[in-house]
Amino acid sequence: MNEAIRILRQEHRSISSVLHGLRELTRTAQDPAVRPDFSVLRAMIYYIDAFPERLHHPKENDVLFPRILTRAPAAAALVQELREDHTKGAELVRDLERALLTFEACWPYGGDRFSEVVSAYTNFHWEHMRKEEGALLPLAEVALSKEDWKAIGESFAGNDDPIADLREKDFAQLFSRIVAIAPAPVGLGRPWKQAVG
Ligand SMILES: [Fe+2]
Ligand SMILES: [Fe+2]
Repeated sequence: MNEAIRILRQEHRSISSVLHGLRELTRTAQDPAVRPDFSVLRAMIYYIDAFPERLHHPKENDVLFPRILTRAPAAAALVQELREDHTKGAELVRDLERALLTFEACWPYGGDRFSEVVSAYTNFHWEHMRKEEGALLPLAEVALSKEDWKAIGESFAGNDDPIADLREKDFAQLFSRIVAIAPAPVGLGRPWKQAVG
């Protein structure tokens, strides 16, 4: 597997583990006797929004997709679908943020709506990544030349973007913070306390 594909798959794993964590804690948050630590859920949703938007999708939209279209024009419909998914995903995150705000303001009410939106978003994003890993990346591996991969690898390494490396470190730190504050079984943070009264 070439380095660029390894990086994209690794980024999918990072997104996916936060999606799993969010799903799990949303289940925990359904207990009306335990007030969730909303800052954990907020940090997860921020990650799910910002990591793809700032770090991951630009690699696909601006670097990989255009080269695939040049080498394999038959992939145009698939690439278009994936681009539309990126736009739709950003809209669905807004639903997630709204549902979380309502849940926090109205707790213990609003948990069922939040859970519905979390399910919809996680299913959508997993399906999107499945399309990329199952259809797009295998196609790219066949269609792109060594020179293409070299150029893609250089772009991914941030050679043309001096602050890319900084962004990468910020997200790694945010990921560690989520692990530190999320309660078991998602992370190493303290369990959420029983609400008094
Ligand atoms: Fe994507
Ligand atoms: Fe992706």
